[in-house]
Amino acid sequence: MIIALLMICFSLYSFFGWVIEVVYRSWNQKTFVNAGFLRGFFVPIYGVVALFFVALDDFSNPYPLIVQFILYTILASALEYIVGFFSERVLHVRLWSYEDNRFNLHGRICLKYSLIWGGLGVFFIEVLHPWVWDKVVLLNEWQAIIVASVLAVYFIIDFAYSISLGRKLGILLETGYQRIITSDAFELEKWLRQEKRLVLAFSHLRKNMSEAISKKFENNLGVVLDQYKSILSIKELDIEFIEDDDYLECVKEILENREFLKTKNFKHHQSSIFDHVLKVSFLAYKICRQKGWDYRSAARGGLLHDFFLYDWRDGNDPGRPTKNFHGFRHSKIALKNSMSLFELNKVEKDIILKHMWPLTPRIPKYKESFLIVFLDKYVATYEFLFKLKKEKRIISNDV
Ligand SMILES: [Fe+2]
Ligand SMILES: [Fe+2]
Repeated sequence: MIIALLMICFSLYSFFGWVIEVVYRSWNQKTFVNAGFLRGFFVPIYGVVALFFVALDDFSNPYPLIVQFILYTILASALEYIVGFFSERVLHVRLWSYEDNRFNLHGRICLKYSLIWGGLGVFFIEVLHPWVWDKVVLLNEWQAIIVASVLAVYFIIDFAYSISLGRKLGILLETGYQRIITSDAFELEKWLRQEKRLVLAFSHLRKNMSEAISKKFENNLGVVLDQYKSILSIKELDIEFIEDDDYLECVKEILENREFLKTKNFKHHQSSIFDHVLKVSFLAYKICRQKGWDYRSAARGGLLHDFFLYDWRDGNDPGRPTKNFHGFRHSKIALKNSMSLFELNKVEKDIILKHMWPLTPRIPKYKESFLIVFLDKYVATYEFLFKLKKEKRIISNDV
C-alpha cells in the first residue's frame, strides 16, 4: 500500500514538475514547449527529487529551516548532477548545460539553480507534500494499487520509448548535416518531425545541433564562400551592379517593390538591412544553383528574411511593433510584411519564419532554410569582424 501511494505521489510531483518546466521554458522561448525528456506530461526528475526529500524529511525535520534548506540544496544538486552525467554517458546527448552560468560544475549543476531547488524543497516539505499526502491517503487499498499500477506501466513504456529516441538524437548530432544535404524535402520533413519534440524541449540540444550543422556548412562550403568573399566586404552593395540576369529574374518582383526598398533606410549590423539581405540572398542563390537545390526560393526567402522597417537597436522607434524581444519576434514580422506584398511558397515562408533558429525553437523544414540560417550568421559575422569597404563592385555571373 505504501509503495502504491508513493508511486502516485511520484507521478503527481513529476506532473507538477512538468507544469513548472512548461511555464518556464515556454516563457523563455516565447512559444509552447512540451518540456522534459518523456513524451507525456511528466518530468520524472522532479518526482525522484521529491521522494528523496520525503525520505530525508524524517532526518532533517528537527533541524531549523536554514539547515533543511542547505540539505535540500545539496541533495537536489547531487541528483541533478547524476542524471546529467548518465544522460551524457547513456544517450551521448547533453540535455542541459549551465556552462554559461557562474559557479557551475561541469555544466551539469550551477549555484543559482541549486539554490532554487533548495527553496522549492522547503516549500515542498512544509506546504505541498503534507497537503498532497492528506488527499492521497483517502484512497482505499485497491484504488491505490490500481492507479499506481497503471501509472507504473505507463512510465515504463514512455521511458523505454524516450530512451530509444534520445539515443537517436545522439546520432542526429553526428549525422544531421549529411541528412540535410542528401535527403529530399519530403524525407527531411519526415525525419525532422520525428525528432522535433526533444529538439524543441531542450534548448541546449538545439544549440548543439545548430552549431554542428553550421560548422559542417562552413567546412563544406569553404571553397564557394571564398569565391564570394569580395561581395561580403562591400558596404553598399548596389543592385545595379549585379550582372547576374538569372538571379535578378528570380528577385525582380521584390527589388522593384518600393516598400521593400525602404529597408535601405535602416541600419543593420554594419550596413543596411537591404545590403545584408542582398548578400545573404545572392550567396544562397549561388550555392543552391551549384547544389541543384531550390535556388529561386532561397534567393527570394533570403531577400525577405529581415523585412522589417524599424531600427531594432532603438527601443523607442515609433515604427517598432514590439518594444522587446526583437530577436524572437522579427521573423514573424518579416513574414507578415512579405506576405502582404508577395505570393510566397512554403519554402520561402519556412526560410523567413525559421531563420533565427535555434534562438526561436521551431526547427527549419528544408535544406534551403538551414542554408539561410547558416548564411545569415556567416554574413553578419563577416560584416562585424571585417571593416567593410565603402565601394561599389560589379557582381556578375562569373564572380
Ligand atoms: Fe534576422
Ligand atoms: Fe539577417
